[in-house]
Amino acid sequence: MSRDGSKQGMSTRLTSYGDEGFSLFLRKAFIKGMGYSDDALSRPIIGIANTYSGYNACHGNVPGLIESVKRGVMLAGGLPIDFPTISLHESFSHPTSMYLRNLMAMDTEEMIRAQPMDAVVLIGGCDKTVPAQLMAAASAGTPAIQLVTGPMLAGSHRGTRVGACTDCRRFWSSYRGQEIDDQEIAEVNDKLVPTVGTCSVMGTASTMACLAEALGMMLPGSATAPAVFADRLRFAEQTGTEAVRIALEKITPETIMTQAAFENALRVLLALGGSTNALIHLTAIAGRLGIDIDLAAFDRMSRETPVLIDLKPSGDHYMEDLHHAGGLAALLREIRPLLHTDVITINKRTLGENIDSVPVILNQNVVRSRENPIFGQGGIAVLKGNLAPNGAIIKQSAASARLMKHTGRAVVFTSMEDLVNRIDDPDLDVHADDVLVLQNIGPKGAPGMPEAGLIPIPRKLAIQGVKDMLRISDGRMSGTASGTIVLHVSPEAAHNGPLALVRDGDLIELDVENRVIALKVNDHELDKRRQETPFETPTENVLGYRKMFLEQILQAEEGCDFRFSRPPLTSKVPR
Ligand code: FES
Repeated sequence: MSRDGSKQGMSTRLTSYGDEGFSLFLRKAFIKGMGYSDDALSRPIIGIANTYSGYNACHGNVPGLIESVKRGVMLAGGLPIDFPTISLHESFSHPTSMYLRNLMAMDTEEMIRAQPMDAVVLIGGCDKTVPAQLMAAASAGTPAIQLVTGPMLAGSHRGTRVGACTDCRRFWSSYRGQEIDDQEIAEVNDKLVPTVGTCSVMGTASTMACLAEALGMMLPGSATAPAVFADRLRFAEQTGTEAVRIALEKITPETIMTQAAFENALRVLLALGGSTNALIHLTAIAGRLGIDIDLAAFDRMSRETPVLIDLKPSGDHYMEDLHHAGGLAALLREIRPLLHTDVITINKRTLGENIDSVPVILNQNVVRSRENPIFGQGGIAVLKGNLAPNGAIIKQSAASARLMKHTGRAVVFTSMEDLVNRIDDPDLDVHADDVLVLQNIGPKGAPGMPEAGLIPIPRKLAIQGVKDMLRISDGRMSGTASGTIVLHVSPEAAHNGPLALVRDGDLIELDVENRVIALKVNDHELDKRRQETPFETPTENVLGYRKMFLEQILQAEEGCDFRFSRPPLTSKVPR
């Protein structure tokens, strides 16, 4: 029992035997088999979601973090108990990690609900893990605090700093363009990931870490500390201590992740030049709390929020540089007039108080002032038009200025397989001014909306030195990638979207300034094609998780969550 007489710790969430006294007796008998005393078992219990996996280098430091979290919990008088959940690494998730994000969210949510814990520390890091954990926390309603594994350090290749995964893509594209040879590509493969931890640029993992801090679900300063720094372990210890406090004070996720907190997170996403994936993830997390993210209002926000972080892929630096420059607080301070600074965060202080508590680092060149931005508007722009009636997005801060207003001839690939088979065909009819279109890589179509939106430049053009082309798909793109890439076209091709109607030679217009993405084909012809392109969701002969996925998955603007996991939407952000 807690001090106020309510049930806590071991007495909660008992297994159903029809006799609660027996359920508790049996539970304690079993756990005592691991050597616990009655004193230990009478404490508030802090669950720790253990996402260590031998397949996940981004979580390679989790064992050390758990040890530090446990120390913090015990210093505050709680009992820490770690438990395993699914762990997802981007490069070890077939067909794509997004296919598994909701499974991890369900696993985490149900294990929080199933086991006795008064609060939970969620240790995530790699791209889909933090979103899955925050979705789970929002649904489970148990006091929760996020901890991330932290970014890896940058490496060095022939005297140049390199890091996953912007430089992975850069070197691979140079290799495809025959600018570097077999020996150099093998050499750099050893240098791109020099330590454990998450990707060292402002990719999805770094973006989500910053957004978790901006949302108030993670301790101030903890988004950027590298995975191998002592700072990271100290944040873990402090997280354990805070977890005991939020358990005793019953601070639940919905009291932190409010409408105002999501507005702050959207602002930060734009000012970071952050990953486009994060918009889908924020939409999914907010949706779990009945909050809708309004894409049109988000776009208006984008027009007044400059990109200030000089990190790859929009800029030049790496996450460790942002940490040395003062971490996320340095950015929050710059955009302070655009934030709700009175929101309460997980450490019981307001966002404004947290910003004030971090020393200002002078003479740093990673976080720009609003007068001297990396890019004058937010990193992401929302597009609309007859090709994407429900919206599409472009990471305008990482696109080519010359292609921001462009009309070109479509070169269409109908699937991933079609792309792989033909993209490097020397006879492919393609020119540098064409628009590469990839259909059927959306949430249902692929399925799982893989990060294949960064369609490779056809080899024959890459060899001629072509570095960027306008590319359009209903898929996603890694947060570490750059180029003039239109993503998340909705509805997707496999959900009756107009993208399915594009044919080779059609003209497509992109006008980012006016937020237009248009297929220049008349309505009569599109109707005719619609009759010839029957929509079909292949759920027959499909079983298990895949069947549930295909039947339940929502489109990008709804966060690609499962329909049955979203309560009715009762409010909107930005307001
Ligand atoms: Fe894990 Fe990039 S692959 S963060």
